[in-house]
Amino acid sequence: MGISDSKIIRLLSVLSSNPAEFLERSRMIVGVKLSFLDPAKPVYAIAGWESVEERLSKFCGCGFKAALEEVELTALASRLRQRMNALPSAAPFGAFHNGDAILAKLCYAVVRTIQPKKVAETGVCYGVTSAHVLMALERNGEGHLYSVDLPPLGKNGDDYVGWLVPEELRNRWTLRKGTSRRLLGPMLKEVGNIDLFIHDSLHTYKNMKMEFQLVWPELSPGGVIIADDIEGNAAFQELAMRGDVAFHAVVQEQGKKSLAGVLIKTAQHE
Ligand SMILES: C[S@@+](CC[C@H](N)C(=O)[O-])C[C@H]1O[C@@H](n2cnc3c(N)ncnc32)[C@H](O)[C@@H]1O
Repeated sequence: MGISDSKIIRLLSVLSSNPAEFLERSRMIVGVKLSFLDPAKPVYAIAGWESVEERLSKFCGCGFKAALEEVELTALASRLRQRMNALPSAAPFGAFHNGDAILAKLCYAVVRTIQPKKVAETGVCYGVTSAHVLMALERNGEGHLYSVDLPPLGKNGDDYVGWLVPEELRNRWTLRKGTSRRLLGPMLKEVGNIDLFIHDSLHTYKNMKMEFQLVWPELSPGGVIIADDIEGNAAFQELAMRGDVAFHAVVQEQGKKSLAGVLIKTAQHE
């Protein structure tokens, strides 16, 4: 598939105003084009949500199941649906980019269960995962979410990143705009150890591997990684095979072909 003329024009318009961003965006385009060279596709033992819920409840304790019953979770889902229906027609992203209900529930219940002080996320779009993390942090009464997103060029992409996130939850949120390649490392250095990482940005092998390699040393023992769209390359599988991973599961998302992965780092370093 080629690159459309309008995309090339939008890209060139960045060259004079922000050469560093031009380089990052060009690198991303080339990276996607070359992703056919990635290592072989992963083969996962895919589970349904009920079985993953059961396994996580056994591993993390009954708080996980209880979190899924909370009224705040149901209320947030319906609020976000209403807000999506009110999305202006000029909005830049297709709704298919949105995190599905399973990814959203997973983020909410993990945050309620592990009570993280610091959460990092790449890939915000309208903010389904961000809103669920922030709602759970609010219920916990502590914690902060640090997100990174590179909005699409043109079409006011900037104005719509996190558009769904309720105003009253934003006090626990820091959102940085740019590629995870450029911003994630410095952000992790700045905030120190994190307890949960959510990957939902550029799903190439190179980008996912780079994010996981940056995050792993900064992830607390017992910390969790949730990754969306892990089916396209082996980055999540390679991470899950590490000796210091205590738990991992791969779940089929709802109404999408995508797979989400969740893994837990061992609680103690040997
Ligand atoms: C699948 S969407 C995220 C969906 C979101 N987590 C949700 O639950 O609704 C992917 C997002 O990643 C952003 N993105 C793409 N490449 C990126 C990169 N290299 N670094 C940071 N963000 C990127 C896109 O702009 C888009 O907003």
